[in-house]
Amino acid sequence: MATVAVVGTQWGDEGKGKIVDILSQNADYIVRFQGGNNAGHTVVIDGNKYILHLLPSGILHEGKKCLLGNGMVIDLEGLLNEIEFMKRVGVKLEGRLFVSERAHLIFPYHKELDAASERLKGDGKVGTTLKGIGPAYKDKAGRVGIRIADLEDPEEFKEKLKWNVREKELTLKYVYNYPVSFSVDKIYSTTLKLYEKVKDFVCDTVSLLNREIDLGKKVLFEGAQATLLDIDVGTYPFVTSSNSSALGIASGSGVSPKKVEKVYGIAKAYTTRVGSGPFPTELKDKVGELLRARGHEFGSTTGRPRRCGWLDLFALKFSVMVNDLDGLVITKLDVLDAFDQIKVCVGYEVNGELLENFPSTAKELERVRPVYETLPGWRKETTKVKSLKDLPPEAKNFLRFIEDYLGVPIYMVSTGPQRDETIEIKSLW
Ligand code: IMP
Repeated sequence: MATVAVVGTQWGDEGKGKIVDILSQNADYIVRFQGGNNAGHTVVIDGNKYILHLLPSGILHEGKKCLLGNGMVIDLEGLLNEIEFMKRVGVKLEGRLFVSERAHLIFPYHKELDAASERLKGDGKVGTTLKGIGPAYKDKAGRVGIRIADLEDPEEFKEKLKWNVREKELTLKYVYNYPVSFSVDKIYSTTLKLYEKVKDFVCDTVSLLNREIDLGKKVLFEGAQATLLDIDVGTYPFVTSSNSSALGIASGSGVSPKKVEKVYGIAKAYTTRVGSGPFPTELKDKVGELLRARGHEFGSTTGRPRRCGWLDLFALKFSVMVNDLDGLVITKLDVLDAFDQIKVCVGYEVNGELLENFPSTAKELERVRPVYETLPGWRKETTKVKSLKDLPPEAKNFLRFIEDYLGVPIYMVSTGPQRDETIEIKSLW
């Protein structure tokens, strides 16, 4: 297999970072295609914990090439921080990091607009990461965004910036009644200084990537966020502002969908969500608290406690469909080691009727009642288990139940944060 993609199947934080890290060992290129530093991928290597927001997790593998695609929105300061962090821990980036000149930039006014919009929405807020993601994509779609390529011509950049700053000042003042703390001069000089330090990594990634794929190089596409946060098929409006399912790979990397050979979905053995929005299997009781404590469910970007609940197979089935998943990776199985009984949601009911399809609107999803099957727990530690056959029978039964319900094979099971706390069932490459 030369091109594979990994995407989240729930509401994010499925543990994609670790799986991408493992898969990176066999990849030539690791490509991010959407989002920005709203993502937080945690990788633990030799006991050291790395949290990456922009750079693909593959960057920690010597010699592997990492690419930030045209579909991303990039905060140059965040990018430089990660580049400098990598240098400090001895990771060489020269010749290994490629940033798309077509990617859009996040500026301070995007972050202020994010905060102002959330404030105005009040109880109806999305619960964003406040990284300016939505406003940056809004500018992109509105055709007023500033791309990395624009920084090559400082005069033109200044003109575009002036227009944007004026528009944002007016919006913040008259729409949001929100204080403005940015200026053209400050953004202009800071951005150009930052650009000087990262410009050697900037290039035409679309041509590069297509050329390399045609040469047979192995490419791993790394999704950030997840399918149910996708702007088009997710639980709108409680979503991120990009196509964070496999649907975004082509547009966000400039590679035809015909070139993506396999798509794998990552699913946690239970469900979590950060931010607002419907969550049918959410548990606001001791069971939810136990899941949060055992799973260390606190946001790696914002530190917010994650909402926790049982595995929602009905939602997962929708993810399997839209991504046309070839296989699944189940993560954090060990978190369930402590439970006598494990529930899985196998359907949604509204007014006593079972739904056929996953709801298209958040309003409808708020109204559903999850229908559960209860499976026996295993009450044994799974973290040290290295092969499927050595898992407790109840854990094998749980995994088989997932496969049977979804009609998709499980390729890998993760039982802890370390690279070797993994059960490989089939090769993902
Ligand atoms: P935004 O991407 O900052 O605009 O946030 C929109 C929604 O996506 C919020 O509910 C966030 O909590 C959620 N979100 C964004 N990035 C992540 C992530 O990496 N993991 C989980 N949720 C995320």
